[in-house]
Amino acid sequence: MIILGVETSCDETSAAVVENGTHVLSCIIASSRKDFEGKGGVIPEEAARKQVECILPVITQALEKASLRPKDIDVIAVTRGPGLLGSLLVGTATAKALAHIWKKPLLGIDHLLGHLDSVWLKSDTASDDANPPVFPCLTLSVSGGHSDIRLRRSHADNTLIGTTRDDAAGEAFDKGASLLSLPYPGGPALSKLAEGSDEHAFPFPSPLQKEQTFDFSFSGLKTALKYTLRDHPNLSESDRKNCAASFQYAICRHLTDRIQRVLDAHQDVREVHLVGGVSANTRLRSLLQESLFKDVLVRWPSTIRYCTDNAAMIAAAGYFLLQEKGDQAFQPFITEASIRF
Ligand code: KG4
Ligand code: ZN
Repeated sequence: MIILGVETSCDETSAAVVENGTHVLSCIIASSRKDFEGKGGVIPEEAARKQVECILPVITQALEKASLRPKDIDVIAVTRGPGLLGSLLVGTATAKALAHIWKKPLLGIDHLLGHLDSVWLKSDTASDDANPPVFPCLTLSVSGGHSDIRLRRSHADNTLIGTTRDDAAGEAFDKGASLLSLPYPGGPALSKLAEGSDEHAFPFPSPLQKEQTFDFSFSGLKTALKYTLRDHPNLSESDRKNCAASFQYAICRHLTDRIQRVLDAHQDVREVHLVGGVSANTRLRSLLQESLFKDVLVRWPSTIRYCTDNAAMIAAAGYFLLQEKGDQAFQPFITEASIRF
């Protein structure tokens, strides 16, 4: 089955053609992120205007790169939310129009479900299906807008186990980076600054340590960084790097600690999946691998471009939803507050 995926939930315009949920024939991503550098974040109105400019060229390129024509597409899958309203409207309205003209079925996909299924996408160099992900698994979904742990028993059976009480993990990286005078988006910049530095140089608290909970909290870490920088106004460059490394370690340790707790409570789980923009963080990947039980496999998307927002994951989620739910997949299936997709 060939699915055309369309993703426009924020400042990326993406279209992808994916075969059988795993094999990416093309994945085009146009980003307006550079426009928001130095502005402290995405400006929704401007992001939506960029979506209008990019959406048709991006879809055309995705088909061309896959060497396919509209008649070869079986289904169109589009992100229905959550995200910025103006940006989402561009993608959903375009997908609806194309589905109507090309006479294709149209699937609305939850953006988070796309991230959850992103580990099923194979890299261009993958040769076989020898080791596909298995259920049940825990998925740690960490991006600029969300930090959740879900217990997944199938593609359509996802139970929310823990979530953030304040900032998302990516937001903590972004706000920390801003305090360290680094550009937006802060995650990649902060982790680059932290490279090779001493992550134990500055003490940061362990949030919600004494509570019996699987939830996260990052706002205390951000405040601790603020006070650290206030109390050390003239940090040398190497101390600034150590401070970034210590802050990054505190975030990664908090995320890893929660996963360990959930694994203790769900001992049938043998796989942990790390998805969303923050899954690109190499320290988080290595800390999870170092800390978890030896027989627990940690996976993340096969390339960085499947960590951040992309349409291939939306096409993959559409495919697996159709496999599991058949025609029911076409019915509206999620509200933002629900815990089952
Ligand atoms: O999934 P995503 O592209 O967009 C949302 O749906 O939010 O995630 C973007 C977030 C940003 O907060 C960015 O700072 C963070 O992911 N991020 C990182 C890294 N790369 C992206 N955070 C830490 N380390 C990274 N290498
Ligand atoms: Zn996302």
